[in-house]
Amino acid sequence: MSRAELVFLSGWQQRSEQALERQLNALTTVSPRLLAAMRYSLLGKGKRIRPVLSYAGAASVGEITDAVDDVACAVECIHAYSLVHDDLPAMDDDDLRRGQPTCHIAFDEATAILAGDALQTLAFQILAGAALPPQDSLALIARLAEASGASGMVAGQAVDLAAVSRQLSLSELEQMHRFKTGALIRASVSMGALATGAASPEQLAALGRFGDSIGLAFQVQDDILDVAGTTEEIGKQQGADALRDKPTYVSLLGLDQARRKARDFHEAALEALSHFDQRADPLRQLSTYIVERSS
Ligand code: IPE
Ligand code: IPE
Ligand code: MG
Ligand code: MG
Ligand code: MG
Repeated sequence: MSRAELVFLSGWQQRSEQALERQLNALTTVSPRLLAAMRYSLLGKGKRIRPVLSYAGAASVGEITDAVDDVACAVECIHAYSLVHDDLPAMDDDDLRRGQPTCHIAFDEATAILAGDALQTLAFQILAGAALPPQDSLALIARLAEASGASGMVAGQAVDLAAVSRQLSLSELEQMHRFKTGALIRASVSMGALATGAASPEQLAALGRFGDSIGLAFQVQDDILDVAGTTEEIGKQQGADALRDKPTYVSLLGLDQARRKARDFHEAALEALSHFDQRADPLRQLSTYIVERSS
């Protein structure tokens, strides 16, 4: 992608980081160690794709307001918590994340579990305090809970762990990816749009289809980078999936077919936006970024 196309991305990345910083600074806790672990995990070198998707989802239908900042922070808090727990010895047992020791290595396991717990509840605290009519905050809270809990990301993580050393069918793999990664990505887009109060039901349905496709594309590319990326670029240990015998798009289909799948999902994502005007261009560019990224 050209530098010009990525400018909006870095602007929204910075905006979300400043908003996250404010949220952390506003927290009161009697445990400085807990807060340090939360800060370490939340503000490390992440791409902020989910917050940026929330801004882009909002921009595709309306104005970016303070409530969109709150959505951006909430989805990134859930994401950061999911990474801290995903890396724990009882889960993927990884030592490197975002180019740094994982939270349980930099601190300790109990602190990592608690930092993840606290980041998760912070997400809902932020939405509860959003500058929106109460029924709109409640709708966002319900949407995020559904996407991240037992009907969403956590269920996908459970399926992922149960699938270690088993070969899944393509449809089982797709379902696992849809839950473990797709659900939160889809919610990031639609919650951004919802927070503007300007989205029509038809627009929300189309954004849902867009989010579904880029969510799958995102995890296929994550699987590809585990094989084809470098540890330095991806900021996590290259080859970790094969080492743990995880079923992935690459283990099932091989690299070439996995790349093809990512392109197919990208095309389906663009198709979902066919009735949107140029205000959806950032979403279109993000879909391209997701399948072309090398980190
Ligand atoms: C990694 O997500 C975990 C997956 C869901 C595949 P990202 O690749 O968005 O991680 P960061 O936030 O940029 O570190
Ligand atoms: C993670 O999937 C999905 C989450 C919900 C965190 P992975 O286990 O493939 O993510 P990475 O590769 O460790 O970032
Ligand atoms: Mg995992
Ligand atoms: Mg992992
Ligand atoms: Mg991975």
